[in-house]
Amino acid sequence: MLPADISAPSGPGRLAPRNVLLTGATGFIGAQLLHDLLGLRDVRVFCLIRSASAPEAVRRVQANLRHHGLWDESLVPRIVPVVGDLSQPGLGLPPEVLDGLAQTLDTLVHSGALVNLLNDYEAHRAVNVAGTVELLRLASRGRPKSLHHLSTLSVFPESARARAAGKIPEDAEPSEASLPTDGYSQSKWVAERLLSQGRSRGIPVTLYRLGEVMPHSGKGTPNPRGLADVLLQACLRLGLSFESSIRLDYTPVDHVSRFVVEVLRSNSARGGCFHVLQPESISFDDILATFARRGLGLRKVPYAEFWQALTERVARYPTEKGLASLVALLPVPLGAGDDPGDRRAEDALAALFTDATRHYALERTTQALNDMALRWPPVDARVLGARAEHHLAALRRGLAGQPSPRAARRARSAAAR
Ligand SMILES: NC(=O)c1ccc[n+]([C@@H]2O[C@H](COP(=O)([O-])OP(=O)(O)OC[C@H]3O[C@@H](n4cnc5c(N)ncnc54)[C@H](OP(=O)(O)O)[C@@H]3O)[C@@H](O)[C@H]2O)c1
Repeated sequence: MLPADISAPSGPGRLAPRNVLLTGATGFIGAQLLHDLLGLRDVRVFCLIRSASAPEAVRRVQANLRHHGLWDESLVPRIVPVVGDLSQPGLGLPPEVLDGLAQTLDTLVHSGALVNLLNDYEAHRAVNVAGTVELLRLASRGRPKSLHHLSTLSVFPESARARAAGKIPEDAEPSEASLPTDGYSQSKWVAERLLSQGRSRGIPVTLYRLGEVMPHSGKGTPNPRGLADVLLQACLRLGLSFESSIRLDYTPVDHVSRFVVEVLRSNSARGGCFHVLQPESISFDDILATFARRGLGLRKVPYAEFWQALTERVARYPTEKGLASLVALLPVPLGAGDDPGDRRAEDALAALFTDATRHYALERTTQALNDMALRWPPVDARVLGARAEHHLAALRRGLAGQPSPRAARRARSAAAR
């Protein structure tokens, strides 16, 4: 239940965003949001960052935007560091700083979260639930503010999708009858329920439910923790791929961010909930084929053989980035090769990924795009190629861990062409 002190402040809200608080600017989506928010004229972005000092906070933001190829020195004067912590009461800010923010800010963009699919609800609660309550409390004090919250389609787990008569509409509320099974999604589920209460008390809340967000369409820089990317990296390091029926929705991070930023500056589109998804899905094989076209062809083996090679690799290099958690998530094959057990594991593997376009309605998002005279840019060979180029460059620099000798050889010869 949302604490009783949280309700909408009175007074007219600002129409255009000028002073925006962004949480999560050191994250994958937050980097793009910060870049795009600063693309709006006269906007200052207050970034809530965990750090020892304000200069250190700016350095963290800068390092993250540099990593994503988005840094521009001229942005610095409009970035205002706010050293705080979502998991702390009052966002970990001194009361006078909180008061100043409550009077100054007109827009809150909440992209900060703990995202760890292996941890339970309790581990996520302080940041994702209590942190969201603190943002609602900030929205309820001082000047009226709109609150834009990044959520996840996984607030509707498989049981909710199975229960739905058709696609899940954007105005559906997550229900107690279908609780998510993992702690991260549970925490986002609770956060959504609290935001919905905040909205019913008059706070202008807009929700953006996302699928697994894909790399930047032009730069190819992925979310290092994204499941699809960790799986791709595993393929590259092993020099192996496998037959799969994985299909996934493919919405690049810059498309997501552009949508959020356009909605938050539009008076008519704000409010309610959006399923932020490109309408077409693609197959994992299509992504792998793009790598093959760049000389990074991977030897196709049965899933059981791929899994075996991966577990051996993790045993040999236990600290290699992402791979141990991948083993924890991937289904264990029961048999080998054409064995039916292997096929069951392949099905379980495909089920780890969701083709959200099959399950979630996009009417409001499509309508908002039309109203704002926008359309989704296509996800085509150029977009997939950018992702492959990014990995190729990382292999050349030796940053993608220790590629298999075969992948390294191929990267060198692809680089020489
Ligand atoms: N990426 C996706 O595919 C996806 C899909 C669905 C929904 N979402 C949602 O989109 C949002 C952004 O996701 P992302 O992929 O960008 O996440 P991310 O890369 O893991 O970034 C998380 C951000 O939250 C910050 N944060 C975590 N704990 C904090 C705390 N106690 N105080 C202040 N900041 C804290 C992190 O700061 P530090 O650098 O200090 O850790 C980081 O900036 C999240 O709300 C997530 O639930 C993402």
